[in-house]
Amino acid sequence: MAKPKKNYVCNQCGSVTQKWAGKCESCDEWNCIEEDVTTSQAVPKGLSAAKGNKIALAPLGDFEPTNYKRAISGISEFDRTCGGGLVPGSATLIGGEPGIGKSTLLLQTVCALAKRNLRCIYVSGEEAMDQVRMRAARLGLADSPVELASATNVRDILASVDGADILIIDSIQTMYIDNIDSAPGTVTQVRTSAQEIIRHAKSRNMAVIFVGHVTKDGQIAGPRVLEHMVDTVLHFEGDRSHQFRILRSIKNRFGATDEIGVFEMAGEGLREVLNPSEIFLSQRNMNVAGSAVLAALEGTRPMLVEVQALVAPSTLAAPRRSVLGYDNNRLAMIVAVLETRAGLQISGCDIFLNIAGGIRINEPAADLAVAAALISALRGSPLPPENVFFGEIGLAGEVRQIAQSDIRLKEAAKLGFREAIIPKNKNTSAKPKKAANGDIRISEIDTITMLADLFASTQVRAA
Ligand code: TYD
Ligand code: MG
Repeated sequence: MAKPKKNYVCNQCGSVTQKWAGKCESCDEWNCIEEDVTTSQAVPKGLSAAKGNKIALAPLGDFEPTNYKRAISGISEFDRTCGGGLVPGSATLIGGEPGIGKSTLLLQTVCALAKRNLRCIYVSGEEAMDQVRMRAARLGLADSPVELASATNVRDILASVDGADILIIDSIQTMYIDNIDSAPGTVTQVRTSAQEIIRHAKSRNMAVIFVGHVTKDGQIAGPRVLEHMVDTVLHFEGDRSHQFRILRSIKNRFGATDEIGVFEMAGEGLREVLNPSEIFLSQRNMNVAGSAVLAALEGTRPMLVEVQALVAPSTLAAPRRSVLGYDNNRLAMIVAVLETRAGLQISGCDIFLNIAGGIRINEPAADLAVAAALISALRGSPLPPENVFFGEIGLAGEVRQIAQSDIRLKEAAKLGFREAIIPKNKNTSAKPKKAANGDIRISEIDTITMLADLFASTQVRAA
């Protein structure tokens, strides 16, 4: 008989190899290759269809929407991020750095769900029951009818959870299956545990939420396949030294991705932030150079945030670039475009850039606000406080159109901004309608030079 072939798998990126190595060829991580116990068997040669059992084939239209009544917690930031509540039988993975508040969020959510007469079970593999109880007491949720367990053996857990509507597994890296010969947290254990739990939950119409740890570069630890196995992947992110937390949907089979929920970590747990723009802008100092307001869009939700820049003369051969909440490469590009296309002497300066409030902005629409903050900081003259910016900047110095400007303008108008500096709309029929945008005046620009000139004239006007 042929010797069974061993497979090895990278516990960072999930790539499979036939040979052990110290470094993964795909993701360049060290010490991350381990033996994959489940697939280390000889692959069967041929398959005879005659021996298979018939599977049920059913018409596509045979759908009863009432079977899929979503479980709504009433914590609207959570419900919206899940696409409008948890779907029965769905599997959700929520990742985030240690200490960011995953366990707190889930405890608050299950308590809210349990209050609505759903049977919820919270299984913690990391904390003892009393630790969870203590937290619940601190959050004022001690009287909630949630059932609690501290367990890590998947077989035992599955034997005890029948009849539940919602099952929380905190965290999947602590779970293990007793007939697999590897430690909890290894790729094989994480994958197989998740598979077993999902299969059990789906067949009983139970919604399950897994907590997943993240690696140092922000990926959910364990095999990538974990993300493929679940229906929804959420990231809970934020700066631990700030109070704001953002729940972001990365993948959702039952709703839109890029949806976010904003929370604030307070003494009594996580509080929903229903009007993030007002809070993010509440500490803005209007008369300081280098501050620009961006009308960002996160999922379907418009959000106004402050971009702060500080530009200082540098004595270093390679000037400092310090960036918080924004992409380093993107900043480098904007600086190069400002220097080359608009003739500003900026690349020799130290540059510090910060998105206020500890949140992270990834969309290209932020380019124009970043450029405006940089120009203002370089010239030492504050921007008009009632101005708001959005637009993408191209390498040729052109300002490009971006999606959904109407929603952004509406939010800006709602918060009392009076002028929006935005890309020129080439398509006249789709021009933002004045009525929809309230009193906001629109200044369209199509090059970065126009942006620089706009402020030059503001300066003159102010003088
Ligand atoms: P936790 O939910 O344990 O994080 P995770 O499960 O993601 O590791 O959150 C722990 C942090 O949250 C801890 O640093 C303290 C903070 N926290 C508060 O500030 N207020 C609270 O009411 C609670 C419960 C936690
Ligand atoms: Mg935890």
